[in-house]
Amino acid sequence: MSKTILITGGAGFIGSHVVRLMVNKYPDYQILNLDALTYAGNLENLKDIESCSNYEFIRGDITDMEAVNRIFREYRPDGVIHLAAESHVDRSISDPLAFIRTNVIGTVNLLNAARDVWHEKPDDKRFYHISTDEVYGSLGNTGFFTEETAYDPRSPYSASKASSDHMVRAWHHTYNLPFVISNCSNNYGPNQFPEKLIPLAINNIKHKKSIPIYGKGENVRDWLYVEDHAAAIDLIFHRGKNGETYNIGGNNEWTNIDLIRKICQVMDKALNREPGDSEKLITFVKDRAGHDKRYAIDSSKLMTELEWKPSLQFEEGIEKTVKWYLDNEEWMNDVISGDYAKYYSRQYDNR
Ligand code: NAD
Ligand code: TYD
Repeated sequence: MSKTILITGGAGFIGSHVVRLMVNKYPDYQILNLDALTYAGNLENLKDIESCSNYEFIRGDITDMEAVNRIFREYRPDGVIHLAAESHVDRSISDPLAFIRTNVIGTVNLLNAARDVWHEKPDDKRFYHISTDEVYGSLGNTGFFTEETAYDPRSPYSASKASSDHMVRAWHHTYNLPFVISNCSNNYGPNQFPEKLIPLAINNIKHKKSIPIYGKGENVRDWLYVEDHAAAIDLIFHRGKNGETYNIGGNNEWTNIDLIRKICQVMDKALNREPGDSEKLITFVKDRAGHDKRYAIDSSKLMTELEWKPSLQFEEGIEKTVKWYLDNEEWMNDVISGDYAKYYSRQYDNR
């Protein structure tokens, strides 16, 4: 094996797409997937590659310092792609400490362990921290986040991600740890846990349940197909410059209400329902506390320097996504069979 790459959070939504890409594209890399399998982690996401000889799953929690140190000493990875995180804003509002533990302390554990095993020969190593556009705060009706935009996180989730970004840069400046960071906009596609807007809406429409839209549905997000994010991660991991940050976005802004109307149309067609049927399920509910108005990413640095561009138009991406959830009923039933019902009723009943 030419390289050992440790991917954290590889059983989650984006992580599973990154693991699949790396395992298939680089047969000479040993790909390790370190994941605690929280409610968001699901090994079913990786069924198709689990028996590949260059892949190994390690169940472990990044908040467990001893375990993280042990794994680094045993496997001595050449690179880390760090995706493990608590990732849902609504959960961060009800349980912020879980986000500080995993996103901040967990990241520091990984940085310390990498520094320990890499200190003699750091030059050919790389710590790649996967972050979010939410660290930049919230935009008005115009403008875009660039890599120079000042951090202004406003939810416990985004504050914990901003904090972990700062930790990565601090380990670089203080201990010479080689790093890259990318900050991406909202992802959509197969395997996303249905607490997030798009799979939640698809699942509710399918079962003719109301679609909860926070506030007036005027908040804007920039949506990117998950495989395009995974391709950008591959590119940045291999060709990004040490110490640099890259923004990744879809250049694809939607208000939540327009996005849900679009999904309703695609679902009506896919399920042979009368046009307009699904839209009747739209229900405006109490707004999210501190709800960020608009995110929009300027990815020109990544597009110019590394020649990345998204491969899918949104029309095609959303049709593929709807089809995937409809074809994978068992996947959805499995993930909503556990604590999901309790979460759903805490989050939406009496809203
Ligand atoms: P996810 O919630 O679907 O998956 C997170 C994964 O991390 C799960 O497999 C979970 O089991 C694992 N995990 C959680 N806590 C852990 C711990 N303490 N130790 C080990 N593993 C743990 O998240 P996602 O949407 O795939 O996001 C992945 C990363 O990308 C996160 O860092 C997130 O901040 C970032 N990101 C996400 C988006 C998005 O739209 N989803 C956009 C930009 C950036
Ligand atoms: P989400 O998928 O949680 O991603 P994020 O908060 O990280 O952007 O939410 C996307 C948008 O959809 C956001 O503006 C909040 C809104 N939203 C709803 O209107 N209803 C819902 O039930 C959920 C989960 C989100």
